Amino acid sequence: MRVMNNGAGASGGGGEWRGWRAATETALYGPGGFYHRPEGPAGHFRTSVHASGLFATAVARLLTDTARSLPPDAGVPAFVDVGAGRGELLTGVLAALPPDFPVRAYGVERAARPEGLDPRIEWVPEPPEGVSGLLFANEWLDNVPVDVAEMAGDGVARLVEVRVADGAERLGAPVADALGAADARWLERWWPLREPGERAEIGRPRDEAWARAVGTLRAGLAVAVDYAHTLDSRPSFGSLTGFREGREVRPVPDGSCDITAHVALDACALPGPPGLPGLPQAELITQREALRRLGVSGERPPLTLASSDPAAYLRALSCAGEAAELTAPGGLGGFLWLLQRVP
Ligand SMILES: C[S@@+](CC[C@H](N)C(=O)[O-])C[C@H]1O[C@@H](n2cnc3c(N)ncnc32)[C@H](O)[C@@H]1O
Repeated sequence: MRVMNNGAGASGGGGEWRGWRAATETALYGPGGFYHRPEGPAGHFRTSVHASGLFATAVARLLTDTARSLPPDAGVPAFVDVGAGRGELLTGVLAALPPDFPVRAYGVERAARPEGLDPRIEWVPEPPEGVSGLLFANEWLDNVPVDVAEMAGDGVARLVEVRVADGAERLGAPVADALGAADARWLERWWPLREPGERAEIGRPRDEAWARAVGTLRAGLAVAVDYAHTLDSRPSFGSLTGFREGREVRPVPDGSCDITAHVALDACALPGPPGLPGLPQAELITQREALRRLGVSGERPPLTLASSDPAAYLRALSCAGEAAELTAPGGLGGFLWLLQRVP
């Protein structure tokens, strides 16, 4: 669930027409961009991290499980949070770990280090190379900008161009000419357009960003969590959208709203284009299943507890409510977790 406020826009070039990838890059991450605002994403969004502390507790458990599986010479286990927001998940995970658990914690972010963050957390622009442990990316990939293609009336997949000032769109050159053969191949392989009017988000930059992140791990587990689709469930007209004040709005790449699109996580899971390292073994499961494996379920406490220990009953009931939100099939529970073990 995303909750937005209005605010000053990013500088983006007014009446200029651009591909969605370049326009989104400026709108979210350029000077004055959406993600550089002082309040941070938590001032606008409600992700699983903000929904309940149970999420951080589950991730802490995944970290300790992962640490146990590392080779003896792996060194101090790392927890690498990619797209760390303002460090909320890192803070929650550190608090949930056993007190004597050794860990090196990294927040990987394009935004500046938040004030007052736990000094144990290293704040870096790129994932550290060669560490072993858990690399975790919650709602990161949907904010890696992508281009959009649409099949025109002539049956050709063309680049969608957007006017920065107002979000108006027009069709540009064929994808292969506008973006190159790699993007055209990605479209053909992962999101083929069949009918005029059908649209697709070209996920190649996300595949590559994910491959680079996974490639930094020497040993351990990499996990990407996002609203996602697979080859058998792509939305015919794409999913690019904006959010403002808790409502879905027409996306305008002027820095006034978030711009996001669901992630083709099955494409991320497989080896990327030549030149990138092949990704290790992948598993794709729902958040509901992932959290169930980590001991989080929305089951209500037994009614008998209400009479034997009313305070414990109320605590358990509140936990069950939060767990139900994290695992709801039509909501956060329907998010996909891509898990990749290294090596
Ligand atoms: C939707 S927020 C999610 C924040 C947090 N993970 C959560 O779940 O609440 C996406 C975050 O990813 C960050 N981000 C986007 N691209 C990034 C990149 N290439 N490297 C590091 N951080 C990035 C953005 O700045 C933003 O803080």
